[in-house]
Formats: sequence, C-alpha cells, structure tokens
Amino acid sequence: MEKELDEIVAYTGQQADGVTTRAQLESLKAEVSGPNGRLTGVMQGMKDVPKEDRPAFGKRINEVKQAVQAIFDGILETVEASEIAAELGPAVDPSLSSADFGPGSLHPLTQIREEICRIFKQIGFTVAEGTEVETEYYCFDALNTPDNHPARDLQDTFYLQDDIAFGNVSKKTDERYLLRTHTSSVQIRTMLETEPPVRIISPGRCFRRDTVDATHSANFHQVEGLYVDKHVTVRDLKATLDYFFEQLLGKGTTTRFRPHFFPYTEPSFEVDFSSSHLAKLGSDWVEIAGCGMVEPEVFAAVDYDPELYSGFAFGMGIERIAMIVYGIDDIRYFYQNDHRFLKQFV
Ligand code: DAH
Repeated sequence: MEKELDEIVAYTGQQADGVTTRAQLESLKAEVSGPNGRLTGVMQGMKDVPKEDRPAFGKRINEVKQAVQAIFDGILETVEASEIAAELGPAVDPSLSSADFGPGSLHPLTQIREEICRIFKQIGFTVAEGTEVETEYYCFDALNTPDNHPARDLQDTFYLQDDIAFGNVSKKTDERYLLRTHTSSVQIRTMLETEPPVRIISPGRCFRRDTVDATHSANFHQVEGLYVDKHVTVRDLKATLDYFFEQLLGKGTTTRFRPHFFPYTEPSFEVDFSSSHLAKLGSDWVEIAGCGMVEPEVFAAVDYDPELYSGFAFGMGIERIAMIVYGIDDIRYFYQNDHRFLKQFV
C-alpha cells in the first residue's frame, strides 16, 4: 500500500506536464482522487489495516492528499495563466523598438528653453531653480503684490488644500500654498540666498486657472530674468533684451517697450518685438515679455539696500516664443505628444 501511495504521487506529478486545460485537470483529479480514483481505492483499504497501524497510515494518506492537491494547484495556476495569455492575444515584448518611431529627440519646448539659456549664459547669466509648489509669500507678498490683487484670486490661481499639501505633517505657518502662477517667485528665492551682484535666468513650469484654447494652457512655461548690481539702468535692460532677441530670432530683430504696470517693477514695460519671423504670423509687432526696474519694496523684502543697488527683471512665456520661432498656431500641440507633431523638431 505504501508503494501504491508513492506511485500515486509520482504518477500525478508525471501527468501534470501534459495537462493544459481545465477539462484535462478535472479528469486527472477524477482519476486520482475522485470517488473511483486510485487514492480513494487505497483509502478504502483502511479497514484491512491492523488497528495499531491505522494512525500512521492515516497520517501517510493525509500527506499524500496534500502532495496531490499541491500538484493540482500548480496545474490550475498554469492553466489560468495560459487562459489569460490567450485572451490578451499574442505576447508583446515591450523592450522591442517600434518599427516606425525611430530615435526620440528633445521636445520643442526643451529645445527653445535650452537655446534661451545658452544665449543668456553667453552674457554671464546663470540658471537658477525654484519650486513649482510655492507659498503665497514668494509668489505674491514679497513681490509687492497685495492681497486684493486679481492675480491672487481663486479664479486665477490653484491653491493647495492644507491636508493635500501636508497630509499628517503639521504645518509650521498659516501660509497658503499654491502652484506658482509665474517664475517671478525665483527672484525672491535667489535674492534671499545671495548678495548682489545677481545675474540669473530661471526657466520653469507655471500654472493658472486658464480655460484651454489655442493660446492658453493651465500649465505653461516661463523664463524669468533678474539682474541686480550697482548702477543698473533701463538702458541695460533694453540692451540685454535687444541682444537676446536678436540672437534668438536673427539679425534685424528689434524690441520696443510700452509702459505697463507690474507690482514688482517700477517703471514697468511690456516688450514687443519685430522680426522677419513675424512674416509667418502676418503682423509687425508682437508682445513677448514683461519687464521693468526692480521695485524698492521688493528689495526691502530681501534686505537689499535700494540706495546702493538697482536692478531689472523680466519674464516671458516659452510656449509663445516656440510658437513664433516654429510658426505653430495652437499651444495644445505641445502637450499632446503626437508623434506626427514632435518628429518635425528632430
Ligand atoms: N510675472 C509676469 C507674468 O507672469 C511677467 C513679468 C513681468 C516678470 C515683469 C517680470 C517683470 O520679472 O519684471 O506675466
């Protein structure tokens, strides 16, 4: 009987390899442990076993049942896996390169960002980084933007709920956190960390509650610039932007300044440029940036002496520049990751 039990386990194991469907599994089960199965047959022989040997025999039977069950379980797993595979169709190898996509390349926004940084680096600017999640202080207060300014409105800015921003971590201040609406916050972060002279640009992602259309996106990119030193004037600002736009858009590109208002600069300007690129857009002057001379209140917030230092700042949208450079008429193309669009910028 002992021998028969060993054989039953060995036999079930051997059969396992050939079982590929549920029906085959059921018939193997019937053959081994069904009412007329081999194992059941052995168990029926229990009555012929001497009384004193019965406990040991019963134990042995149990071991065999478990061993056989483990084999059935293993078979079922394999059968299920092959059923799922059959449903999913032919196997996909995600490591294979696609037949038609070719090598990737930098996104057009990345290319423009790198070009902007390259030009400013040539004239001594370094690249500074800020954070996308900001406090109201860096984004607004320190930039002389009062509580009642429309930019701070719920309609314009994504505020973070405390429990989302902090989870279980207790908040140290009662400041509100938000997704930055512009890169100007990096001005404050930089000035708080460094003494003048300061000469930085800072590209990065910004967020506004804009309704998406051909020229608006709730998520976009800007480049901020800040130059602080002794005796910095509007002339330096104009010359710097003229140089930049000529490098970016080619000889003959010029800029003009129109008076404007920004809380963190005084005087403030909007910058238009004119260039042969505009032929694509069919206009003479196109607004491209905001700028001005750093407002003394901003210097006060970062403890710079406004009697000793002056500076200029500017900010512009990377998408807007990319749209002009490449002649793109809808901002949404940048975010759809459509290969037919992207491959034009390789
Ligand atoms: N932060 C402004 C905006 O998002 C752009 C800007 C204007 C930046 C004037 C500046 C500046 O640094 O001086 O529209």
